[in-house]
Amino acid sequence: MFNCLICEANFNSFIDFGKMPIANNFSKNKSTKKDYNFQMSVGFCNSCKSVQLTSQPDRKLMFHENYAFYSSTSSFMKTHFKKFANEMIELQKLDNNSLVVEIGCNDGIMLENFMDENINSFGVEPSKNVAKVAEKKGLNVINDFFSKEIALEILNKFGKSDAILSANVICHIPYIHKIFEGVKLLLNKNGVFAFEEPYLGDVIKKTSFDQIYDEHVFLFSILSVKNIAAMHDLDLFEAQKQITHGGSMRYYLSHKGNKEISSNVLKLINEEKNYGLNKEVTFQDFNKKILRIKNDLINLLMELKNQGKKVVAYGATSKSTTVTNYFGITSDLVECIFDTTPIKHDTFSPGVKIPVLPYKDFRKSNPDYVLLFAWNHFEEIKEKEKDFMTKDKKWILYVPEVKVI
Ligand code: SAH
Ligand code: TYD
Repeated sequence: MFNCLICEANFNSFIDFGKMPIANNFSKNKSTKKDYNFQMSVGFCNSCKSVQLTSQPDRKLMFHENYAFYSSTSSFMKTHFKKFANEMIELQKLDNNSLVVEIGCNDGIMLENFMDENINSFGVEPSKNVAKVAEKKGLNVINDFFSKEIALEILNKFGKSDAILSANVICHIPYIHKIFEGVKLLLNKNGVFAFEEPYLGDVIKKTSFDQIYDEHVFLFSILSVKNIAAMHDLDLFEAQKQITHGGSMRYYLSHKGNKEISSNVLKLINEEKNYGLNKEVTFQDFNKKILRIKNDLINLLMELKNQGKKVVAYGATSKSTTVTNYFGITSDLVECIFDTTPIKHDTFSPGVKIPVLPYKDFRKSNPDYVLLFAWNHFEEIKEKEKDFMTKDKKWILYVPEVKVI
């Protein structure tokens, strides 16, 4: 039995992944001797309807001066965040008297759009290396973890915020109530807190189990976010599906009673209930579906190995750490992983230690098969590689099922 981080009720885990490394620990060290591991399992709290990890490594082991994820590696995501920023400018009628705060701004991919429109903004970003990139763009960054104290600091110096934004960050933070308390303090009377996260509904429907790794302590549904918001006198007044990260949801919150609640919220919550996202039983056969993917993928990789085919992987994602370690995929089956992020180059992937090489060498490696770990960027990557991935070269996908394309 575990204690829910949101409502403190007891809950059980529904999958135990065993020992897992830090998902973004792409390290120069080939030996696993000094690598940190934790017992990763995930459960469903029937009281507040939330899905969460039962334990998480210390935040300083995950977010630090060598954080390996740089948001701006995807041109699709750049466009996505530009649109997000523009929608917020319109919704909140933001101008040069407004203040926007972003929780977890990373390299500034979202905030630079506000800077371009002369709208004041602050980013709160604990990982120093990515915060520095944002600062170099001319953005104001507080290099720290967002908390009630940081919210007070911003409030005292600059006043209340008209929009508090976040993307793929709130689901990383176990002390969720402190975050909501900070937001509640900092948000203007008519302010909006908009955040988006990988969506539980998509994870379950698509069996995108690789969204489960150390950083993602929560997998939110609309129902669970509505419940947390209510605990802080906030209303969830709108929810919008997003196609990013294999299926995300954007949540819009305001102070209680400040905004009309869109009919979309109720409609989507009803969809969740019809699908069973509010019931423990829904999660029970999730692991069976994952094991089917494991079986199919391992069989395929073994067969290709026996045929003497060259198999490499594309995208050293955090998600790939769950896939390779849970399935036991080593460099015996997948020679190496190519990635565009300089900090990941000439390192070894966490746990299974598959070499990670610079993207510039991808085509030269002349693979027969390419296992796509960055499957959530498939449209962008397929387009980028269309002249190379001709008919004698094939992609291997594994979400929602193993497929060769
Ligand atoms: N918003 C970006 C980055 C997501 S990666 C995007 O969507 O691409 C998650 C980011 O959250 C990392 O940059 C990490 O350093 C940051 N983060 C983790 N815990 C945080 C906290 N408590 N407060 C603020 N940022 C946090
Ligand atoms: P992503 O799937 O966004 O994140 P996560 O770490 O949260 O699972 O990571 C994309 C990774 O794929 C990142 O390391 C950069 C890499 N990448 C490429 O190598 N080439 C590309 O064209 C794209 C879009 C990403």
